[in-house]
Amino acid sequence: MGLTWKRSTPDELVCCCFKVSRRRLEAVIRTHRLRTVEEVTRLTGGCGGCQTCRADIEAMLARREREGE
Ligand code: FES
Repeated sequence: MGLTWKRSTPDELVCCCFKVSRRRLEAVIRTHRLRTVEEVTRLTGGCGGCQTCRADIEAMLARREREGE
């Protein structure tokens, strides 16, 4: 047994509750210049349920913020 490393793919679901993919989240974050998880939830539904995906969405927002436009 050990840890397995899995490469993320654009079509991977980040939010399973609302079936929101990484590709969709990145596009919405970029297009609307989103800064908070609550904004992401309002536009995609992502993170509007169990919140298991919250850390992933926060990481995507932080990366986007660092990279800028
Ligand atoms: S996995 Fe995103 S709210 Fe549950």
